[in-house]
Amino acid sequence: MRSALPRPLDRLRLPAIVAPMFLTSNPDLVVAACSSGLLGALPALNQRTSAGFEAWLNEIEERLGSVSCPAPHAVNLIVHKSNPRLHADLEIVVRHKVPVVITAFGAVREVVDAVHSYGGLIFHDVASRRHAEKVAESGVDGLIALGAGAGGHTGHLSPFAAIAEVRQVFGGLIILAGAMSCGSDIVAARAMGADMVSMGTRFIATREAAVSDVQKQMMLAAAAADVLITPNLTGASATFMRPSIIAAGLDPDDLPHFGSPDATRESKSWRDIWSAGHGVGSISDVPSVAELCDRLQQEYQEAIHSLAVDPFRAVRHANQGEAR
Ligand SMILES: Cc1cc2nc3c(=O)[nH]c(=O)nc-3n(C[C@H](O)[C@H](O)[C@H](O)COP(=O)(O)O)c2cc1C
Repeated sequence: MRSALPRPLDRLRLPAIVAPMFLTSNPDLVVAACSSGLLGALPALNQRTSAGFEAWLNEIEERLGSVSCPAPHAVNLIVHKSNPRLHADLEIVVRHKVPVVITAFGAVREVVDAVHSYGGLIFHDVASRRHAEKVAESGVDGLIALGAGAGGHTGHLSPFAAIAEVRQVFGGLIILAGAMSCGSDIVAARAMGADMVSMGTRFIATREAAVSDVQKQMMLAAAAADVLITPNLTGASATFMRPSIIAAGLDPDDLPHFGSPDATRESKSWRDIWSAGHGVGSISDVPSVAELCDRLQQEYQEAIHSLAVDPFRAVRHANQGEAR
């Protein structure tokens, strides 16, 4: 863990990213996150066209232009042959000098060099040490270590193991993702050796997130046990809420294999079948992003304070008192 984050991350109020989320992140969520001091991220593919993506980027820049000292923002690019827009969207990112780029599904030197050409930072998701080793070679500035139970496409390792393994092969920034919902979780991640965290699920249940109230209410009622991890809906292991699978007329315990003829259906993953990570069990309200960020900061400071008080000594003294 570094004592200070590099520019422009040193402007953050907390070392946290409001994660890019397909069909969930929009300009309102990004602007609210950056105005509240967290790094807000937007998937380029949340708009149907590159022109639409650029229009959203213009809107975000304009709105943040009237905020005093906003946190930097990020764009998420899917680096995979299934994304025909990659080059057009990357050109827009470079033209706009987007401060941070988060790539997924492929770390390519050409994309890293393009982001570095204007001084941007680039982070990439990893789920194992082998994956981290490969991605590190591309020259990225940060690795997002996906822990078990993360929202969206998930990791499988305990966060303790994930951070330790990534650190063995990578000297840059480590960002932990997965199942964190409160400020003390951010402190815990930092204590484990992460420089930053990336929080997605917690921010779906906010007023600004671009999902229906029905989805937000389902999240409030859900526990970690309601989250199914399956490759059958998208082709890669991802977390989805069981009640949303049932509401789509499917049996969560008997899903046809992804790509098989039986998997043809009207309902779409992400749009009708909703992703949430294990952290959903600790969410009990739908605040504004500003309220949530104030709360996260307060919890963060309280956690640091309570650790500084040395709980072990306090327990020992209490035990000695009882013995007397
Ligand atoms: C609904 C949803 C959509 C997501 N979409 C994307 C995406 O488009 N691109 C991406 O890189 N990660 C995506 N993710 C993963 C998040 O960026 C982040 O890694 C994850 O939410 C962190 O775990 P948490 O949800 O447990 O906090 C998505 C996650 C969720 C819950």
